[in-house]
Amino acid sequence: MEEQTTVNHDKLMTLFGSVFNDVAGSVAIMMSYIGDQTGVYRAMDKLGPSSVASIAEEAKVDKRYLKEWLASNAARGYVHFNAESEEFSLTPEQAAVFARESEPTCIQGLIQGVVGQFVKEDVAIDVFKTGRGRPWGEHHECCFCGTERFFRPAYASHLLEEWIPALEGVEDKLKMGAKVADIGCGLGTSSILMAEKYPNSTIHAFDFHGPSIEEAKKRAAEKGLANLEFFVSDAAEIPKNDYDLACIFDAWHDMGDPVGIASGIKDVLSSDGTFMVVEPMALDGMANNIANNPASGMMYGFGTLVCVPASKAQDVGLGLGPQAGPNKLMELLSEAGFGTINLAAETTNNLVLQARA
Ligand SMILES: C[S@@+](CC[C@H](N)C(=O)[O-])C[C@H]1O[C@@H](n2cnc3c(N)ncnc32)[C@H](O)[C@@H]1O
Repeated sequence: MEEQTTVNHDKLMTLFGSVFNDVAGSVAIMMSYIGDQTGVYRAMDKLGPSSVASIAEEAKVDKRYLKEWLASNAARGYVHFNAESEEFSLTPEQAAVFARESEPTCIQGLIQGVVGQFVKEDVAIDVFKTGRGRPWGEHHECCFCGTERFFRPAYASHLLEEWIPALEGVEDKLKMGAKVADIGCGLGTSSILMAEKYPNSTIHAFDFHGPSIEEAKKRAAEKGLANLEFFVSDAAEIPKNDYDLACIFDAWHDMGDPVGIASGIKDVLSSDGTFMVVEPMALDGMANNIANNPASGMMYGFGTLVCVPASKAQDVGLGLGPQAGPNKLMELLSEAGFGTINLAAETTNNLVLQARA
């Protein structure tokens, strides 16, 4: 295709409009974060159609600021405004996206993760300019709870019902009583789900980020789970324990040496053990992702800010990124020494790979 060198006015206006809309969206994201953190959306969900004064009273926030905030939300379609009654409310869909934590469409975790990046923009710029690594622990804490809140609905909907049943013979072993290692477990959502569902199995969950493990321990203690233990440990130092299942959820690409770590995991599995790698949804190849994967803009953005710097902060520092795609992931598992590798499942946000010796 011949390269265009002069400005085409229509194309310019289309691009400007699109970016303007993104900027307006970024303000809306900040509005949404404030509504989440102050409980305004939850108050609205509880009240139904209400005046500004009633919502302010229920959420215990300033009435004047709330009026401005509600108008902004209504203009973006995040809340509903009835011009006749002058009342604001949430439609069932708006409630499912903004107010109800248990809904798979609740977006607040993702928003929290994005806001966490803006809070430390100076660090992001320094990392980008210098090329240094940025350890997971160097992020704002919004990054940890936002990540967990965002991933939880997908794990709750798919892990026990689709992903584990898609692995060869694993579900039966877990029901009977098996040993599981959940590596890079973060706040322990996947570990807790498995421990609850398979009481005969023992789950060992590992992460090298101490504060995440502390929080995971608290959450597990609240549920009184006796078959789940958490350890502060690098993924490269998992004890040899003949695990029947080792898994990594949305963290393998964050590791500095995914091949070395996978090779070590192969050694801590039992002879017919399974390694399950859950990674963000991606297609094969950057050009393919840019053209055909609507989430790739956001995912390459998180790659720039979080995943590649996390990997570069560790030994080897491969910087795989979150959009490697199934073929590259399988190639790395093969390099690590696994003989049987396949894509066991795919859901909207995730690829699930199965690897066996
Ligand atoms: C994106 S978070 C995912 C957390 C969790 N698996 C989840 O899905 O909610 C990535 C996690 O990997 C952990 N991690 C990264 N590299 C690690 C390593 N080499 N050893 C142990 N944990 C690691 C981080 O501390 C972080 O908790």
